Amino acid sequence: MKFGKFDDANREYVITTPRTPYPWINYLGTQGFFSLISNTAGGYSFYKDARLRRITRYRYNNVPIDMGGRYFYINDNGTVWNPGWSPVKTELDAYECRHGMGYTIISGKKNGLAAKLTFFVPQDYDGEVQQLTLTNESDAEKSFSLFSFAEWCLWDAQDDSNNFQRNFSTGRVEIDGSVIYHKTEYRDRRNHYAFYSVNDSIDGYDTDRDSFIGLYNGFHNPEAVLAGKATDSFADGWAPIASHYKKISLKPGESKTLVFILGYVEMPADQKFEADGKTINKVKAKEMIAKFDTPEKFAAGMAELKAYWDKLLGILTVDTPDERVNRMVNIWNQYQCMVTFNLSRSASYFESGIGRGMGFRDSNQDVLGFVHQIPDRAKERIIDIASTQFPDGGCYHQYQPLTKKGNADIGGDFSDDPLWLILSVSAYIKETGDWSILDEMVPYDNDMSVAQTMLEHLKVSFYHIVNNLGPHGLPLAMRADWNDCINLSCFSDTPGESFQTYTNPKFAAEGGYSKTAESVMVAALFTYTGPNYVAILKHLGKDDEAAAAQAEIDKMKKNMMESAWDGDWFLRAYDANGEKMGSKECEEGQIFIEPQGFAIMSDVGKDEGTAEKTLAAIDERLNTKFGLVLNNPAYSKYYIQYGEISTYPGGYKENAGIFTHNNAWIICAAAYAGKGDQAFKYYSEIAPAFTEETSDIHKTEPYVYGQMIGGKDAGSDIGRTGKNFGQGKNSWLTGTAAWNMVAISQYILGVQPDFDGLRIDPSIPSAWDGLTATRQFRGANYKIRVENPSHICKGVKSMTVNGKEVEGCVIPYEKDCKEYNVVVTMG
Ligand code: GLC
Ligand code: GLC
Repeated sequence: MKFGKFDDANREYVITTPRTPYPWINYLGTQGFFSLISNTAGGYSFYKDARLRRITRYRYNNVPIDMGGRYFYINDNGTVWNPGWSPVKTELDAYECRHGMGYTIISGKKNGLAAKLTFFVPQDYDGEVQQLTLTNESDAEKSFSLFSFAEWCLWDAQDDSNNFQRNFSTGRVEIDGSVIYHKTEYRDRRNHYAFYSVNDSIDGYDTDRDSFIGLYNGFHNPEAVLAGKATDSFADGWAPIASHYKKISLKPGESKTLVFILGYVEMPADQKFEADGKTINKVKAKEMIAKFDTPEKFAAGMAELKAYWDKLLGILTVDTPDERVNRMVNIWNQYQCMVTFNLSRSASYFESGIGRGMGFRDSNQDVLGFVHQIPDRAKERIIDIASTQFPDGGCYHQYQPLTKKGNADIGGDFSDDPLWLILSVSAYIKETGDWSILDEMVPYDNDMSVAQTMLEHLKVSFYHIVNNLGPHGLPLAMRADWNDCINLSCFSDTPGESFQTYTNPKFAAEGGYSKTAESVMVAALFTYTGPNYVAILKHLGKDDEAAAAQAEIDKMKKNMMESAWDGDWFLRAYDANGEKMGSKECEEGQIFIEPQGFAIMSDVGKDEGTAEKTLAAIDERLNTKFGLVLNNPAYSKYYIQYGEISTYPGGYKENAGIFTHNNAWIICAAAYAGKGDQAFKYYSEIAPAFTEETSDIHKTEPYVYGQMIGGKDAGSDIGRTGKNFGQGKNSWLTGTAAWNMVAISQYILGVQPDFDGLRIDPSIPSAWDGLTATRQFRGANYKIRVENPSHICKGVKSMTVNGKEVEGCVIPYEKDCKEYNVVVTMG
């Protein structure tokens, strides 16, 4: 069942009912000011850091769901309704929500009155701009009252949700004409305030929540709205809000447009106040308000936003025989990559914005999907991340976006972390051809006095693996690898202990983790990533170092074949007792997804047919119609030696859930191995546009990836196997976005930046006749046509560039050539 439709021409998803199976959201803002907005206008805003600069309040895990938002209430002669349906939930005569690139349009109609709300965050602007157009579509004059509503968060979202003894007494506002200012703690230690304005006179306001809503009422029936009149309340403590009240009369056919702005302002310490020393200095707020105080200015801001996205999405476009692929690649997957790059894993409808900072591994992987859009920002991000690394190549697992410092609470010793840095730096060079990133001086642990070049950071990353091997010559598993929930040194039996950071006393003397437990996944990631490091060294003429690094990669492959090949697939790990994990010999969890794709893509045991055997086993044991499960069979009890993974009921999260992030690695691997049909099958099982038809099962947004989909074992714990099979969770902020962008654009469609130029080597469904693509790459335009006359999956028979036949499938780069017409014939 569907709850809307794609409008590809406008790059929008059009939701046609407010009762989606879960709130379907969008993100506004790409720079400093961000908003989350659901299809019923729920959500919240923050500046840069969702925890420390939360501007409006939101209630997670609330009943009913999705409470807190920018609400507009209309009281039309006793009929009270919201254009976005919620929170009053009066049945509307018409409803539509269009989520677009950085904006959302919500329209509702009731009793002949139409309301259209457009929300966006303009470029280079710290605020959300909201335009409301009301049109009387009836034959009679209409008089009604309008109320806006925003609830302030007292800045630190964590403190806001627990320190009530203080927070009920600190809230402060100021009212100036039609502008309501939120200034809690501004007099004392904060240099920032927020405001909510409207570009018209008002007939009243409320700034105190209890006066507006009533202590025993809710968002769905605020007393002031029911009464049809604001109370002109002035908040002093308790819960400050901002609500404008306006009486409006419209003749038949007449419209009225209002522009509201929710803004954030920072002031230098010596300019915080007016001459009286206590009134807020509003100069900056007034400038911001003036920037969008008419519908014309509003339209100009929207046009600028559209031009920004036209440019970003113009860098790579494809035209394939499948329109769902086109809309994923051309629109939604790229859009999601921008969101994950900006937000990391901090704020979604499943991430509260107070939990996590930027992940070392997560943010490096996000770069892979984003780097072609704004390479400069990718470079800045890579340097920020690398700056939190330790001199021995280890890393803080997370850092805070405001301070950019490593987060000591989470610490380090995640065995995979350093390798992702090699991958992101390589991706940056492949995209830009800018080798100078390797010369950047980058600190260790943010200490510039011990800075080294980025190249040196790559070296310590590479050797961090080499220097931390276990008994089989495989990388130590440490606290966790990519799978946060495989914690082989934890042996935790006490509630509340973090599986990732708790140090079991038995390993305290060994440095915090077992020197026996090894990760085959990190071994495979090493053999996949390492060749990039070797290629970089060769490019720099460091042949001896390159040879030494290559020898380590070869040794690792040998060790994998000796100790990590289980006959039909690769093992997952050796646990702290030296026992195999992810082997046929195991009772449960016999096969895991994570090592397989990287092993295939680095040709480990190629001559012994490992790729074919592994792909066959994956197809048989892990594949389902909704994607590949992470492991099989699911764990049905707690294995203390494995850690968090076995705490999840079977079929969810890392315990046999369909963890879409790692599905991409298999899609890439199948494509790499020439199995384009198999790759595409897995792609289409999870790609959001393909899940649209089953939105009732999938639940989360059909335009973006979620981290997890219930696996075939979901429900097994309660004797109802298959119960939530196919049900998506944790949408938006996931490495799946970047990796599936890589999988579809580089591995399947085969447009792959490489160190020496653009490589075209598709691995597509055999049924396809071909495809076309355009790509801006290193300052030139590429027009690519792929023809597949003999209907194969993979193989380039010939390639012409500007009419000339070329050897191989890398387009030779010519310095002065700005237009490349490329024709690839498969065969
Ligand atoms: C989450 C984390 C990511 C981790 C994955 C598997 O998506 O953000 O860092 O690799 O889970 O545990
Ligand atoms: C928990 C989650 C896992 C996530 C990790 C991040 O372990 O289950 O999916 O990656 O937290 O810290």
